[in-house]
Amino acid sequence: ATPVIIDCDTGVDDALALLFAVRHPGLELRAVGCVAGNTDVDQVVRNTLTVLEQAGAPEIPVARGAERPLIEPLRTAHHVHGRDGMGDLGLPAPRRRPVGVDAVTLLRREILASPRPVTLIPTAPLTNIALLLRTHPEVTRNIERIVFMGGAVATGNATAVAEFNVWHDPEAAAVLLTAGVPITMYGLDVFRRVIVPADDVRRLRESAEPGANLAGRLLAHRGPVTSEKDASGGLGDAGAVCSVADPAGLTTHRLPVEVNLAPGPARGQTVVDRRPRPGEAELHGEAREQPLVDVALDIDPDRYVKLYLATVEGATAS
Ligand code: BDR
Ligand code: CA
Repeated sequence: ATPVIIDCDTGVDDALALLFAVRHPGLELRAVGCVAGNTDVDQVVRNTLTVLEQAGAPEIPVARGAERPLIEPLRTAHHVHGRDGMGDLGLPAPRRRPVGVDAVTLLRREILASPRPVTLIPTAPLTNIALLLRTHPEVTRNIERIVFMGGAVATGNATAVAEFNVWHDPEAAAVLLTAGVPITMYGLDVFRRVIVPADDVRRLRESAEPGANLAGRLLAHRGPVTSEKDASGGLGDAGAVCSVADPAGLTTHRLPVEVNLAPGPARGQTVVDRRPRPGEAELHGEAREQPLVDVALDIDPDRYVKLYLATVEGATAS
């Protein structure tokens, strides 16, 4: 199985991502870092522990990370994810506690201890990841790839052009992009497209199995990508984890990406250079120093919906 670590701000769709990661036989979830984003970090820790308990995976270590972005103030998304940051589903409080070390320390330990290089999957603002890369740069030698949910080639959600995770901590995202490891950007362009049909959501909600039932209730919540007209629900962050389990459903192009750090209406935008190359940049005398990122431009939504349902409902994953 591929060793993975998720860093999240659970979060309706982060919860869907965790459920998938613990159930997919091709993934070995080694640890989970928590960061402020959708809600404050202590609530993120509680939500994460509860989800792992409901999923039947209480042994996975969970650590508390940054309580605010590097420079920006904390700006939560309770309007999207509810008062408790996870859809106000009335879930029980967790029985477990987070590990006794902070998320940066846990991530470093688990990355370096892994017998095979780890795929890191941030589904949240990148504060913990930026701190990890700056504090312990040696971790990059055992990171296979960072697949992050964040950014947008086209339209944003937090602002007209900025996606929430990058907008929340743009400096941290800029640190990630220059990490010197292979990076996949699973941005809004594909994130928005993976929607579970209403009938499947209904079936999951009727399931007596706690993990599948929770997935159904989360999908039925009006999370970040839910249709207004019926009971279908977006996989959101979980799509990024599906793409690690089954990369063939995602089409990426290697392109220069830069985060706009300037104050003003475009702060937090991921500026993706889609001009044909080589040529145009040199023509204009620009230095070609932006990092190259594998940007997700297309996705097979049906493939990932099927994979998600098969995995979370317990059937053999395709
Ligand atoms: C991202 O923002 C959060 O609200 C979601 O959990 C997702 O990670 C989408 O912009
Ligand atoms: Ca998230």
